[in-house]
Amino acid sequence: MTHRPPSHTVLRMTFLAGLLVTGLVAWLALTGTDAEARLGPGVHPVIQPNLKYMGNASCAGSGCHGDDKAKQQSGKNIGDESNVWAAGDPHHHALDSLKTPESKKIADTLKIADAAASSRCITCHGMDVPKEKQGEQFTALDSVGCESCHGPSEKWLNPHADAGWVPKQRAAGGAKGLLDKFGLADTSDLEVRANTCVACHLQIDKDMIDAGHPALEFEMYAYDYYISKKGKEWAIHWDEPKGKMIDAKLWATGQAAALEAAKAQTAAWKAKGWDTKDADGLVKVYEAGVAVAKKHFGSDTAAGLKAAAYTPEATAAAAADLAAAAPTAANIMQRRVIAFGVTALGSAAFDGRGKEAPDEFWKAYDIAIKGEAGDAYVSAVKKLAELAK
Ligand code: HEC
Ligand code: HEC
Ligand code: HEC
Repeated sequence: MTHRPPSHTVLRMTFLAGLLVTGLVAWLALTGTDAEARLGPGVHPVIQPNLKYMGNASCAGSGCHGDDKAKQQSGKNIGDESNVWAAGDPHHHALDSLKTPESKKIADTLKIADAAASSRCITCHGMDVPKEKQGEQFTALDSVGCESCHGPSEKWLNPHADAGWVPKQRAAGGAKGLLDKFGLADTSDLEVRANTCVACHLQIDKDMIDAGHPALEFEMYAYDYYISKKGKEWAIHWDEPKGKMIDAKLWATGQAAALEAAKAQTAAWKAKGWDTKDADGLVKVYEAGVAVAKKHFGSDTAAGLKAAAYTPEATAAAAADLAAAAPTAANIMQRRVIAFGVTALGSAAFDGRGKEAPDEFWKAYDIAIKGEAGDAYVSAVKKLAELAK
């Protein structure tokens, strides 16, 4: 059975401590590299070349984020993040993927001597931080670590340990204040979150794809629930708010951020003289999504859509409009982006009415998200929207 977005269950899993063995492995010191080149084109709230990265170990202390079990703090379930990440987060393995035969092939084609030590790869599969910006506990072995998403912690590591500090700063200056003043990327802000994910999940050089790298697409509802393309069961270290139409918000905000990133990708490919056909196709899919979001939720920007009002009626109508775009999808990536969107909107419509989506909905989902060309895909997507009416 396909892994489903468990929107009504608790995602977090608790693992036994003692799983962090990575620190024991010897590792070559990575040479300092140009911080500007850390990620692809576009906006990444986390690239802050002026600040120090203190390393995962500085987050993993007991009583902080290295405990066996989470406990309630400032209205959140906090404490076990490092263990959940080490045991079941796809990003924990991102660096290991650079040492496989598949990576060796990609690297050989691109004339890269060692993928695991090349800026071209560790910019997304690790933390490509120049030597002078590495704190004492920083290690390249952290892979895609805490600070890859939450921002370099030089200025916020100590103060944020005080209970209530983050909510207080958030109330004073919003996500922008946290980022500008302290370098903390407030991932609870869906716009910041979306821009963080798409920096690594959408923009990649075409020569890498030609060399065998998986093509990238992004849909925030599916990615946020860590739905794996390969059917793996990943664990998430946070709890999403329930009963707040969050699935529709994730989708809509993600579409707007993805559109900007996809446009930046097209521009970058064009500047390098690469054929932009595939990049253009992705732009079109997100344009269709953003048009649906604008029609039903009244905005076409990530900032507007994270704050928009979502009702079950509007999300059900948006699901129907988005499903109408299914026959125009040109490849598996585009088909999946649409299938996940219709699922997100449908799931939110049920959520908003205080109901569980029926089995039939999830049966259609299993077919739709395979993204296979043909009638079965199109009718499964339509079914998702019809059931959500
Ligand atoms: C610093 C770059 C980076 C950032 C930021 C990032 N990711 Fe990833 N992500 C990766 C890489 C690289 C992989 C592939 C890991 C592997 O298999 O080697 C990955 C894998 C994943 C996967 C697993 C896909 C599969 O098919 O199994 C999911 C889901 C995912 N990321 C979601 C997210 C979400 C959601 C965000 C934002 C909150 C995010 N990522 C932010 C780099 C990043
Ligand atoms: C722009 C960010 C980015 C860059 C640069 C990048 N990758 Fe990736 N890579 C990803 C993401 C994201 C995924 C996961 C794709 C998904 O599942 O959606 C991935 C997946 C992979 C996979 C498949 C992993 C698996 O579990 O099946 C391999 C192998 C890989 N990358 C190797 C490389 C190599 C080698 C380089 C350098 C030549 C590189 N990557 C550069 C973002 C990047
Ligand atoms: C792929 C991106 C990514 C990585 C890597 C990552 N986080 Fe998170 N983290 C998120 C997102 C998204 C949220 C949910 C929104 C929020 O609460 O900020 C989150 C939430 C949290 C929370 C709040 C928990 C809750 O229940 O809401 C804590 C604490 C946290 N992360 C700590 C860590 C630590 C420690 C690490 C490293 C071991 C880490 N994160 C790695 C993306 C990431």
